[in-house]
Amino acid sequence: MKKTAVVIRDMKGVKNIVALTSYSYWMTKIVNQVDIDLILVGDSLASMVLGYKDTTPVTMDEMIHHTNAVSRAEPNSLIVADMPFMSYQSSQEKAVENAGRFIKEARAEAVKLEGGKQIKDTVRRIVQVGIPVLGHIGLTPQSIHQMGGYRVQGREPERAKSLIEDALLLEKAGAFAIVLECVPSVLTKEITKKLHIPTIGIGAGPHCDGQVLVIHDILGLKTGHVPKFVKQYADLTEHITKAIEAYKKDVTAGKFPGKEHSYE
Ligand code: KIV
Repeated sequence: MKKTAVVIRDMKGVKNIVALTSYSYWMTKIVNQVDIDLILVGDSLASMVLGYKDTTPVTMDEMIHHTNAVSRAEPNSLIVADMPFMSYQSSQEKAVENAGRFIKEARAEAVKLEGGKQIKDTVRRIVQVGIPVLGHIGLTPQSIHQMGGYRVQGREPERAKSLIEDALLLEKAGAFAIVLECVPSVLTKEITKKLHIPTIGIGAGPHCDGQVLVIHDILGLKTGHVPKFVKQYADLTEHITKAIEAYKKDVTAGKFPGKEHSYE
């Protein structure tokens, strides 16, 4: 069954929401073999696919290009496109226009924006034109320079209070769900309890209404630092390395192509 933003919203209290990022056609085809509720074409595209150090450089055109590849795979999951840095912060008009581009040009079915009270009116405007919005609060990587690093958010009572406020304001503005990133479990529990819409956690503990992770992280499709909140379910880097080594060995030794891979 095709998942819509309404279906995802109504999953609160019924079933845990399972979400994953995807950035390409074939990966989405594979993800679609499993019943995943929501695919996020995250701006983590910047670091997972394009080789940038953080998410700030990725552009609207790059996000549209990859969202299109995902939507061409026609997954049953809800397709959410992440609005990149500076595509929605400077004016509400620009935000609505760019959210609309994701729907018209890339066949996304919802958009995600980072931030709380400072973007609540922008969220309302986007929802008013008929585009479902997924909120994102806690650690918001587009503000990494202001936050001073990838740190857990909401440990101090003042910050915890403002995150609760942010969540309630986003709900009021019409968001269908909210991503909570790197938030202590007790605070997640409180926010999740206060909201009528689902929370989807990443590094936010077990009390959310769902979970999202970056696909490269769960598949071990990269090397280097693995955040505490990631559970790696496969080590594809090792499998891929072994396969490429075997190919190289065969070609070097003249063993590939054999008769079975050649035309008469
Ligand atoms: O860009 C991203 O991948 C995200 C996470 C919430 C997974 O925003």
